[in-house]
Amino acid sequence: MAIQFNCVSSMLILVLLSISSVEGQGGGGGGVIDVVAKFGAKADEKTDLSKPLLDAWKEACATTSPAKIVIPKGIYFLSTATLDGPCKAPIELQVEGTVKSLANPGAFKEPKWITFNRIENFKLFGGGLFDGQGTTAYKREGCKNHDYCGSLPINLRFDFLTNAMIQDITTKDSKQFHVNVLGCKNITFEHFTVSAPDESPNTDGIHIGGSDGVNVLNSEIKTGDDCVSIGDGSKNLVINGVTCGPGHGISIGSLELFKNEEPVDGVTVKNCSFTNTSNGVRIKTWPGAERGTCSNIHFEDITVTNVSSPIIIDQKYCPWNKCKINEESKVKLSNISFKNIHGTSALPEAVKIICSATLPCENVELADIEITHSGPTGPAVSQCSNVKPKVSGKQNPAPCSAPLPAKPTPTA
Ligand SMILES: *[C@@H]1O[C@H](CO)[C@@H](O)[C@H](O)[C@H]1NC(C)=O
Ligand SMILES: *[C@@H]1O[C@H](CO)[C@@H](O)[C@H](O)[C@H]1NC(C)=O
Ligand SMILES: *[C@@H]1O[C@H](CO)[C@@H](O)[C@H](O)[C@H]1NC(C)=O
Ligand SMILES: *[C@@H]1O[C@H](CO)[C@@H](O)[C@H](O)[C@H]1NC(C)=O
Ligand SMILES: *[C@@H]1O[C@H](CO)[C@@H](O)[C@H](O)[C@H]1NC(C)=O
Repeated sequence: MAIQFNCVSSMLILVLLSISSVEGQGGGGGGVIDVVAKFGAKADEKTDLSKPLLDAWKEACATTSPAKIVIPKGIYFLSTATLDGPCKAPIELQVEGTVKSLANPGAFKEPKWITFNRIENFKLFGGGLFDGQGTTAYKREGCKNHDYCGSLPINLRFDFLTNAMIQDITTKDSKQFHVNVLGCKNITFEHFTVSAPDESPNTDGIHIGGSDGVNVLNSEIKTGDDCVSIGDGSKNLVINGVTCGPGHGISIGSLELFKNEEPVDGVTVKNCSFTNTSNGVRIKTWPGAERGTCSNIHFEDITVTNVSSPIIIDQKYCPWNKCKINEESKVKLSNISFKNIHGTSALPEAVKIICSATLPCENVELADIEITHSGPTGPAVSQCSNVKPKVSGKQNPAPCSAPLPAKPTPTA
């Protein structure tokens, strides 16, 4: 199988190469464009890759047949780049090398490093690495006297893409979110790797918002914040075969902090595992905030290992005291299932389903839950509020058997 695949892919490259040699330089045809060979990029860690890459992109994007840009092996420095569509034909960026950002967090005026914008039929692949050099930003030194901490760059932004594939790519040490997906239709991340230390703040692996049809498959996400976070206007998402940890787990929300947020509808998280994360699968909404809905959310075949809150719906999510504590959430949660979730919890409160008193959760299902906790604080427990879950199969801890927490959630 692997040999066949290699044959096919090398044939493809040969075909593209022959197209490029036939069509020659910069003609109307597609082909392979090497940023080093053709546009003077240098893998010397100091020459800015920005202009060569943008020049290559301009040429590739204007060709009327499929084109591919290659960043060969080597270490490159890139200040910042926005690769804009629409392009005339499908376009690919094959990154074999390592692309490094500036370490100085004050060097960025906008919260972005590399952005892909308004492209149809796009593929980013090649085994390469995008290194955000974020360790200097994690301490938030000097934030008080500057405004740049509000615009720390996101490593990779995918804005308004249609039919895109992101494959065999690593993002490391972003200064902010690693990936932001906005306004996309049909985008897949496969064999995607996120790597950042446990103590890196606000470094969500993949944040998704306002998008329809996002798949995150067979990927590994180690970071200091959410593994995958899902914001408003997200529909038809599938997360399958993702390993998370360290980090905060997979999270829907926090929702409805702002007015006019779009519903979240249709999220399946399946065959995923969490190790040493603060949450497993979570839905969080702010008390006293705006109206909204979140429905058809399914968590299935999940393994948790030493996870603080493996299963959590939290409609009293209130970090930094930023909410009206005595009000209820106005987000309606419905059609939510947790099936075949097993492993160990780092805290006794393994299952927490805290819903809104004004809009109780509807149609919540717990099936085959087996989460144990051992330690001086006693066995695993399950807490519920404003919800009557439908239960089936094995249930450990016993559903909704423990008293409620007295206070809204204080931590992020
Ligand atoms: C989704 O995008 C992929 C490319 O990543 C493409 O092969 C597939 O046909 C697209 N699906 C639809 C329904 O357009
Ligand atoms: C489950 O996830 C693993 C990666 O963690 C992957 O290799 C496997 O193919 C997935 N299984 C299914 C049935 O999707
Ligand atoms: C989980 O955390 C413990 C303590 O920090 C560490 O020893 C262990 O290696 C971690 N496990 C994984 C899989 O990262
Ligand atoms: C479990 O996670 C906690 C932090 O949440 C950590 O202190 C502890 O060492 C971990 N235990 C193991 C066995 O990994
Ligand atoms: C909940 O699921 C039922 C049955 O599948 C469906 O009829 C209903 O429309 C769903 N509710 C929402 C808000 O999507």
